[in-house]
This record gives sequence, C-alpha cells and structure tokens, in this order.
Amino acid sequence: MKQRILFVCLGNICRSPAADGIMQALIERAGLEEFYEVDSAGTYSGHRGELPDPRMRRAAEPRGYHLNHRSRPVTEEDFERFDLILAMDDNNYENLHRLAPSRKASERIFRMVEFTRESHPDRYYVPDPYYEGREGFELVLDMLEAGCATLLNYLEDQRNNG
Ligand code: 4NP
Repeated sequence: MKQRILFVCLGNICRSPAADGIMQALIERAGLEEFYEVDSAGTYSGHRGELPDPRMRRAAEPRGYHLNHRSRPVTEEDFERFDLILAMDDNNYENLHRLAPSRKASERIFRMVEFTRESHPDRYYVPDPYYEGREGFELVLDMLEAGCATLLNYLEDQRNNG
C-alpha cells in the first residue's frame, strides 16, 4: 500500500510546493515511486491555480528541482486520502486541526519541524519566506532538503521494519 504524504503551508506557492518537489525527487532518486505519493496544498486559497512563486522556482532550479505544482487549497478529502499531513508552521498546524473532519483525521497532522530538528535545532518552524529576501528562500530549501531526507529515512524504516 502506498504511503501518501501531503505538505501544507499558507499559500501553497513557496514552502509546501518546494517540499513536495524535493520529496518527489528523493523518492525518484531512490527508485521508491511505487511506495509513495506526494502532494501539497495551502490553508489559504488566494493563490489557487498559480505556479510556485518565481523566487522559489529560481532558488530551487540550480539545486535540481523543477517546481511546477499548481496551488490548491486543502480539502476535507485530503484528510482521508493522505496518511501524513505535514504543516510548515504553527499557524498551518492549527488551521489544519480546525479543518480536520474528525479526531482520527487530526491524528495525521504533524509539524515538518519534527524532521528538520536534527539539521536546524534552533528553528521551531519552517519560516515563511514570502516577505524575505533570497536568504529566506535558501534557508527554506536547506531546511526542506534535510527534513525530507530525514522523513524518507523514517518512512523507509517503518516500511521495512514496522
Ligand atoms: P507559503 O508562502 O505559505 O510558503 O506559500 C506564502 C505565500 C503567500 C502568502 C504568504 C505566504 N500571501 O500572503 O499571499
């Protein structure tokens, strides 16, 4: 059975589509496509249909990620479809709990920072780069590259030993 992972931020144009693209690339490089499905969504629908922010696309490209996700809001069905729903910050985390249709559904929500703690112990959330300069986007990509690698290791451990 496939493990389905949904990354969630506010606009679904910066952090979560980057996490989605990075995770997808890690899964493909490891030849694990048959075991995982990845997607992303936002708690705010104002950017619906848009490609990721050009600043994020420009920062991701030289690292080997071609981001072409189209922004979409989180839906109630996402709580049934996805096994793991990862929030970029506390605001997203709380909004996801508000949107969750049941207690069981809310048990699928986690903070992405659980997986970035090892590489970035001084960061308590994945910071919104929208109003930041280039360094903000690079920091998000650094955190997400390390975090997605940790996440995939964790999931592979579960799949092989769980
Ligand atoms: P994201 O970044 O949540 O990482 O996609 C943002 C995108 C849009 C806005 C804020 C943050 N906004 O205010 O429109």
